[in-house]
Amino acid sequence: MNELAVVLPGLNLKNPIMPASGCFGFGYEYSNFYDLSELGAVIMKAATGTARLGNPTPRVAETASGMLNAIGLQNPGVNHIIEQEVPFLAEYDTSIIANIAGSTIEEYEMVAEAFNDTEHVHALELNISCPNVKEGGIQFGTDPQMAAKVTERVKRVSKLPIYVKLSPNVTDIVAMAKAVEAAGADGLSMINTLTGMQIHLPSRRPLIANKTGGLSGPAIKPIAIRMIYEVKQHVDLPIIGMGGICNAEDVLEFLLAGADAVAVGTANFSNPLVCKEIIADLPDVLKRNGLSSVQEAIGKAVFI
Ligand SMILES: Cc1cc2nc3c(=O)[nH]c(=O)nc-3n(C[C@H](O)[C@H](O)[C@H](O)COP(=O)(O)O)c2cc1C
Repeated sequence: MNELAVVLPGLNLKNPIMPASGCFGFGYEYSNFYDLSELGAVIMKAATGTARLGNPTPRVAETASGMLNAIGLQNPGVNHIIEQEVPFLAEYDTSIIANIAGSTIEEYEMVAEAFNDTEHVHALELNISCPNVKEGGIQFGTDPQMAAKVTERVKRVSKLPIYVKLSPNVTDIVAMAKAVEAAGADGLSMINTLTGMQIHLPSRRPLIANKTGGLSGPAIKPIAIRMIYEVKQHVDLPIIGMGGICNAEDVLEFLLAGADAVAVGTANFSNPLVCKEIIADLPDVLKRNGLSSVQEAIGKAVFI
Protein backbone atom coordinates (compact mmCIF):
# COMPACT_ATOMS: atom_id res chain seq x y z
CA MET A 1 0.00 0.00 0.00
CA ASN A 2 1.19 3.53 -0.77
CA GLU A 3 0.83 5.45 2.49
CA LEU A 4 1.03 8.79 0.68
CA ALA A 5 -1.76 8.14 -1.85
CA VAL A 6 -4.81 10.44 -1.95
CA VAL A 7 -7.85 10.26 -4.21
CA LEU A 8 -9.72 13.51 -4.92
CA PRO A 9 -12.28 14.45 -7.57
CA GLY A 10 -10.50 13.92 -10.91
CA LEU A 11 -7.16 13.33 -9.20
CA ASN A 12 -5.54 10.04 -8.34
CA LEU A 13 -2.48 11.29 -6.48
CA LYS A 14 0.54 9.14 -5.61
CA ASN A 15 1.28 11.72 -2.93
CA PRO A 16 -0.46 14.90 -1.73
CA ILE A 17 2.31 17.32 -2.79
CA MET A 18 2.00 19.73 -5.71
CA PRO A 19 3.67 23.00 -6.60
CA ALA A 20 1.30 25.97 -6.23
CA SER A 21 0.14 28.00 -9.19
CA GLY A 22 2.50 30.76 -10.27
CA CYS A 23 5.43 29.39 -8.29
CA PHE A 24 6.48 26.68 -10.75
CA GLY A 25 5.68 28.20 -14.14
CA PHE A 26 4.97 25.25 -16.40
CA GLY A 27 7.71 23.11 -14.89
CA TYR A 28 10.62 23.56 -17.38
CA GLU A 29 13.09 25.17 -14.98
CA TYR A 30 12.33 22.72 -12.19
CA SER A 31 12.64 19.73 -14.52
CA ASN A 32 16.37 20.47 -14.56
CA PHE A 33 16.49 19.78 -10.83
CA TYR A 34 14.43 16.59 -10.49
CA ASP A 35 12.02 14.21 -12.21
CA LEU A 36 8.60 15.89 -12.15
CA SER A 37 6.99 12.41 -12.10
CA GLU A 38 7.74 12.41 -8.38
CA LEU A 39 5.08 15.07 -7.80
CA GLY A 40 1.50 14.21 -6.87
CA ALA A 41 0.36 16.89 -9.32
CA VAL A 42 1.43 20.15 -10.89
CA ILE A 43 -0.75 23.25 -10.72
CA MET A 44 0.08 25.38 -13.73
CA LYS A 45 0.43 29.17 -13.82
CA ALA A 46 -2.90 30.94 -14.39
CA ALA A 47 -4.35 30.80 -17.91
CA THR A 48 -6.42 33.68 -19.29
CA GLY A 49 -8.23 33.99 -22.62
CA THR A 50 -5.39 35.81 -24.36
CA ALA A 51 -1.74 36.41 -23.46
CA ARG A 52 -1.12 38.92 -20.66
CA LEU A 53 2.10 40.81 -20.00
CA GLY A 54 1.21 41.32 -16.35
CA ASN A 55 1.95 44.38 -14.22
CA PRO A 56 4.90 46.76 -14.59
CA THR A 57 8.10 45.89 -12.71
CA PRO A 58 9.29 45.75 -9.98
CA ARG A 59 6.60 43.28 -9.08
CA VAL A 60 8.25 41.05 -6.49
CA ALA A 61 9.75 42.11 -3.15
CA GLU A 62 11.23 40.16 -0.28
CA THR A 63 9.93 40.98 3.22
CA ALA A 64 11.23 39.85 6.62
CA SER A 65 8.70 37.02 6.66
CA GLY A 66 7.75 36.11 3.12
CA MET A 67 7.41 37.73 -0.26
CA LEU A 68 5.13 40.27 -1.91
CA ASN A 69 4.17 39.83 -5.55
CA ALA A 70 1.99 41.61 -8.03
CA ILE A 71 2.70 39.66 -11.20
CA GLY A 72 -0.76 40.47 -12.59
CA LEU A 73 -1.47 37.10 -14.20
CA GLN A 74 1.28 37.20 -16.81
CA ASN A 75 0.79 34.18 -19.05
CA PRO A 76 0.97 33.24 -22.74
CA GLY A 77 -2.81 32.68 -23.08
CA VAL A 78 -4.87 29.52 -22.89
CA ASN A 79 -4.29 28.30 -26.47
CA HIS A 80 -0.52 28.56 -26.16
CA ILE A 81 -0.67 26.75 -22.82
CA ILE A 82 -2.72 23.92 -24.33
CA GLU A 83 -0.50 23.61 -27.40
CA GLN A 84 2.94 24.18 -25.88
CA GLU A 85 2.96 23.77 -22.11
CA VAL A 86 0.57 20.89 -21.40
CA PRO A 87 2.37 18.51 -23.83
CA PHE A 88 5.65 19.11 -21.95
CA LEU A 89 4.09 18.33 -18.56
CA ALA A 90 2.13 15.40 -20.00
CA GLU A 91 5.40 13.55 -20.55
CA TYR A 92 5.64 13.14 -16.80
CA ASP A 93 3.65 10.67 -14.72
CA THR A 94 1.84 13.30 -12.68
CA SER A 95 -1.59 14.91 -12.64
CA ILE A 96 -2.06 18.34 -14.18
CA ILE A 97 -4.32 21.03 -12.74
CA ALA A 98 -5.00 24.10 -14.87
CA ASN A 99 -5.38 27.36 -12.92
CA ILE A 100 -7.82 29.59 -14.78
CA ALA A 101 -8.55 33.30 -14.43
CA GLY A 102 -10.34 36.08 -16.23
CA SER A 103 -11.58 39.64 -16.08
CA THR A 104 -15.17 38.67 -16.88
CA ILE A 105 -17.32 35.59 -16.33
CA GLU A 106 -17.34 35.05 -20.09
CA GLU A 107 -13.53 34.88 -20.10
CA TYR A 108 -13.57 32.27 -17.31
CA GLU A 109 -16.09 30.23 -19.32
CA MET A 110 -14.04 30.49 -22.49
CA VAL A 111 -10.83 29.38 -20.74
CA ALA A 112 -12.58 26.52 -18.95
CA GLU A 113 -14.15 25.30 -22.19
CA ALA A 114 -10.79 25.39 -23.93
CA PHE A 115 -9.49 22.79 -21.45
CA ASN A 116 -12.46 20.47 -21.99
CA ASP A 117 -10.79 18.44 -24.69
CA THR A 118 -7.23 18.81 -23.48
CA GLU A 119 -6.00 15.34 -22.74
CA HIS A 120 -3.88 15.10 -19.56
CA VAL A 121 -5.49 18.06 -17.74
CA HIS A 122 -7.33 16.45 -14.85
CA ALA A 123 -8.91 19.37 -12.99
CA LEU A 124 -9.36 23.13 -12.99
CA GLU A 125 -8.38 25.46 -10.19
CA LEU A 126 -10.61 28.51 -10.46
CA ASN A 127 -8.57 31.53 -9.44
CA ILE A 128 -11.25 33.92 -8.23
CA SER A 129 -8.84 35.44 -5.80
CA CYS A 130 -6.05 37.22 -7.59
CA PRO A 131 -5.66 40.50 -5.71
CA ASN A 132 -3.44 42.01 -8.38
CA VAL A 133 -5.69 42.50 -11.38
CA LYS A 134 -7.73 45.64 -11.75
CA GLU A 135 -10.93 44.31 -13.26
CA GLY A 136 -12.91 41.43 -11.90
CA GLY A 137 -10.46 39.45 -9.76
CA ILE A 138 -11.02 40.98 -6.38
CA GLN A 139 -14.84 41.15 -6.63
CA PHE A 140 -15.09 37.50 -7.66
CA GLY A 141 -12.93 36.55 -4.71
CA THR A 142 -14.49 38.65 -1.96
CA ASP A 143 -18.22 38.67 -2.72
CA PRO A 144 -19.93 35.32 -2.04
CA GLN A 145 -22.61 35.96 -4.67
CA MET A 146 -20.07 36.77 -7.37
CA ALA A 147 -17.96 33.77 -6.36
CA ALA A 148 -21.01 31.52 -6.59
CA LYS A 149 -21.97 32.97 -9.96
CA VAL A 150 -18.60 32.42 -11.60
CA THR A 151 -18.37 28.92 -10.09
CA GLU A 152 -21.81 27.96 -11.36
CA ARG A 153 -21.17 29.32 -14.85
CA VAL A 154 -17.80 27.57 -15.17
CA LYS A 155 -19.26 24.35 -13.78
CA ARG A 156 -21.97 24.48 -16.43
CA VAL A 157 -19.52 24.55 -19.35
CA SER A 158 -16.66 22.47 -17.98
CA LYS A 159 -16.21 18.70 -18.16
CA LEU A 160 -13.51 18.80 -15.45
CA PRO A 161 -13.77 18.87 -11.64
CA ILE A 162 -13.45 22.41 -10.31
CA TYR A 163 -11.43 23.45 -7.26
CA VAL A 164 -12.30 27.02 -6.35
CA LYS A 165 -9.32 28.92 -4.95
CA LEU A 166 -10.39 31.13 -2.08
CA SER A 167 -9.00 34.52 -1.15
CA PRO A 168 -8.05 35.11 2.49
CA ASN A 169 -8.80 38.83 2.01
CA VAL A 170 -12.33 38.45 3.42
CA THR A 171 -13.91 38.73 6.86
CA ASP A 172 -15.91 35.51 6.54
CA ILE A 173 -14.07 32.70 4.77
CA VAL A 174 -16.80 30.20 5.69
CA ALA A 175 -19.42 32.25 3.81
CA MET A 176 -17.22 32.17 0.71
CA ALA A 177 -16.68 28.41 0.99
CA LYS A 178 -20.38 27.72 1.53
CA ALA A 179 -21.33 29.88 -1.45
CA VAL A 180 -19.06 28.05 -3.88
CA GLU A 181 -20.07 24.67 -2.44
CA ALA A 182 -23.73 25.51 -3.10
CA ALA A 183 -22.76 26.62 -6.62
CA GLY A 184 -21.36 23.17 -7.42
CA ALA A 185 -17.62 23.36 -6.72
CA ASP A 186 -15.97 19.93 -6.51
CA GLY A 187 -13.27 21.11 -4.12
CA LEU A 188 -11.58 24.10 -2.55
CA SER A 189 -8.08 25.38 -2.86
CA MET A 190 -6.98 27.70 -0.09
CA ILE A 191 -5.43 30.12 0.48
CA ASN A 192 -4.24 32.69 -2.04
CA THR A 193 -2.02 35.59 -0.95
CA LEU A 194 -2.94 38.35 1.53
CA THR A 195 -2.81 41.92 0.27
CA GLY A 196 0.23 43.74 1.67
CA MET A 197 2.61 46.62 1.05
CA GLN A 198 6.25 47.45 1.76
CA ILE A 199 7.84 50.91 1.50
CA HIS A 200 11.40 51.61 0.41
CA LEU A 201 12.75 54.24 2.84
CA PRO A 202 15.18 56.22 0.66
CA SER A 203 12.61 56.80 -2.09
CA ARG A 204 9.54 56.64 0.21
CA ARG A 205 7.85 54.62 -2.50
CA PRO A 206 6.20 51.22 -2.31
CA LEU A 207 8.75 48.56 -3.29
CA ILE A 208 6.54 47.16 -6.02
CA ALA A 209 5.18 49.23 -8.89
CA ASN A 210 1.58 48.10 -8.31
CA LYS A 211 1.93 49.61 -4.77
CA THR A 212 0.21 46.62 -3.13
CA GLY A 213 0.93 42.96 -3.69
CA GLY A 214 0.09 39.55 -2.36
CA LEU A 215 1.99 38.35 0.71
CA SER A 216 2.97 34.68 0.67
CA GLY A 217 5.36 32.39 2.51
CA PRO A 218 5.74 31.36 6.18
CA ALA A 219 4.06 34.56 7.47
CA ILE A 220 0.68 33.42 6.14
CA LYS A 221 0.76 29.80 7.33
CA PRO A 222 -1.12 30.36 10.62
CA ILE A 223 -3.83 32.21 8.69
CA ALA A 224 -4.15 29.37 6.19
CA ILE A 225 -4.36 26.78 8.97
CA ARG A 226 -7.04 28.80 10.80
CA MET A 227 -9.10 29.23 7.64
CA ILE A 228 -8.90 25.55 6.67
CA TYR A 229 -9.95 24.59 10.20
CA GLU A 230 -12.93 26.98 10.08
CA VAL A 231 -14.06 25.91 6.62
CA LYS A 232 -13.72 22.21 7.45
CA GLN A 233 -16.28 22.61 10.26
CA HIS A 234 -18.95 23.82 7.83
CA VAL A 235 -18.23 22.55 4.34
CA ASP A 236 -17.96 19.04 2.98
CA LEU A 237 -15.65 19.65 0.01
CA PRO A 238 -12.10 18.30 -0.25
CA ILE A 239 -9.45 20.95 0.33
CA ILE A 240 -6.09 21.53 -1.34
CA GLY A 241 -4.30 23.56 1.36
CA MET A 242 -1.48 26.04 0.83
CA GLY A 243 0.19 29.05 2.39
CA GLY A 244 3.75 29.05 3.68
CA ILE A 245 4.50 25.34 3.48
CA CYS A 246 8.27 24.77 3.67
CA ASN A 247 8.71 21.22 4.98
CA ALA A 248 6.98 17.91 5.72
CA GLU A 249 6.00 19.01 9.25
CA ASP A 250 4.12 21.95 7.72
CA VAL A 251 2.34 19.49 5.41
CA LEU A 252 1.24 17.36 8.36
CA GLU A 253 -0.11 20.46 10.11
CA PHE A 254 -2.24 21.26 7.04
CA LEU A 255 -3.50 17.66 6.85
CA LEU A 256 -4.41 17.65 10.55
CA ALA A 257 -6.29 20.95 10.12
CA GLY A 258 -8.37 19.35 7.36
CA ALA A 259 -6.53 19.65 4.04
CA ASP A 260 -6.67 16.55 1.81
CA ALA A 261 -3.63 17.56 -0.23
CA VAL A 262 -1.29 20.56 -0.27
CA ALA A 263 0.45 22.94 -2.61
CA VAL A 264 3.88 24.45 -2.04
CA GLY A 265 4.43 27.95 -3.41
CA THR A 266 7.00 30.50 -2.32
CA ALA A 267 9.36 27.88 -0.83
CA ASN A 268 10.17 26.75 -4.41
CA PHE A 269 11.92 30.07 -5.05
CA SER A 270 14.45 29.62 -2.24
CA ASN A 271 14.82 25.86 -2.63
CA PRO A 272 13.90 24.43 -6.03
CA LEU A 273 14.11 20.92 -4.57
CA VAL A 274 11.62 21.60 -1.76
CA CYS A 275 8.74 19.50 -3.19
CA LYS A 276 11.03 16.52 -3.82
CA GLU A 277 12.47 16.80 -0.29
CA ILE A 278 9.02 17.04 1.32
CA ILE A 279 7.83 13.93 -0.55
CA ALA A 280 10.90 12.04 0.66
CA ASP A 281 10.48 13.22 4.28
CA LEU A 282 6.73 12.81 4.65
CA PRO A 283 6.57 9.04 5.44
CA ASP A 284 9.00 9.47 8.32
CA VAL A 285 7.21 12.58 9.67
CA LEU A 286 3.92 10.65 9.60
CA LYS A 287 5.50 7.69 11.39
CA ARG A 288 7.16 9.86 14.05
CA ASN A 289 3.75 11.35 14.77
CA GLY A 290 2.03 7.99 15.14
CA LEU A 291 0.33 7.95 11.75
CA SER A 292 0.60 5.24 9.12
CA SER A 293 -0.82 7.16 6.15
CA VAL A 294 -1.79 10.57 4.83
CA GLN A 295 -5.40 9.42 4.84
CA GLU A 296 -5.20 8.74 8.56
CA ALA A 297 -3.99 12.31 9.24
CA ILE A 298 -6.65 14.30 7.39
CA GLY A 299 -8.74 16.42 9.78
CA LYS A 300 -7.33 14.67 12.85
CA ALA A 301 -6.23 17.70 14.85
CA VAL A 302 -7.69 17.49 18.36
CA PHE A 303 -9.93 20.44 19.14
CA ILE A 304 -11.57 19.32 22.38
C1 LIG B 1 5.01 34.86 -7.70
C2 LIG B 1 3.66 34.27 -7.41
C3 LIG B 1 2.74 34.08 -8.46
C4 LIG B 1 1.48 33.54 -8.21
N1 LIG B 1 0.62 33.33 -9.25
C5 LIG B 1 -0.59 32.73 -9.01
C6 LIG B 1 -1.48 32.44 -10.08
O1 LIG B 1 -1.18 32.67 -11.26
N2 LIG B 1 -2.69 31.87 -9.78
C7 LIG B 1 -3.05 31.58 -8.49
O2 LIG B 1 -4.15 31.07 -8.26
N3 LIG B 1 -2.20 31.82 -7.46
C8 LIG B 1 -0.99 32.38 -7.68
N4 LIG B 1 -0.13 32.60 -6.64
C9 LIG B 1 -0.53 32.20 -5.25
C10 LIG B 1 0.07 30.83 -4.88
O3 LIG B 1 -0.38 29.82 -5.76
C11 LIG B 1 -0.28 30.46 -3.42
O4 LIG B 1 -1.68 30.38 -3.28
C12 LIG B 1 0.24 31.47 -2.41
O5 LIG B 1 1.50 31.97 -2.79
C13 LIG B 1 0.32 30.89 -1.00
O6 LIG B 1 1.23 29.81 -0.92
P1 LIG B 1 2.77 29.98 -0.48
O7 LIG B 1 2.76 30.80 0.78
O8 LIG B 1 3.28 28.59 -0.30
O9 LIG B 1 3.44 30.70 -1.60
C14 LIG B 1 1.12 33.17 -6.87
C15 LIG B 1 2.05 33.35 -5.83
C16 LIG B 1 3.30 33.89 -6.08
C17 LIG B 1 4.26 34.06 -4.93
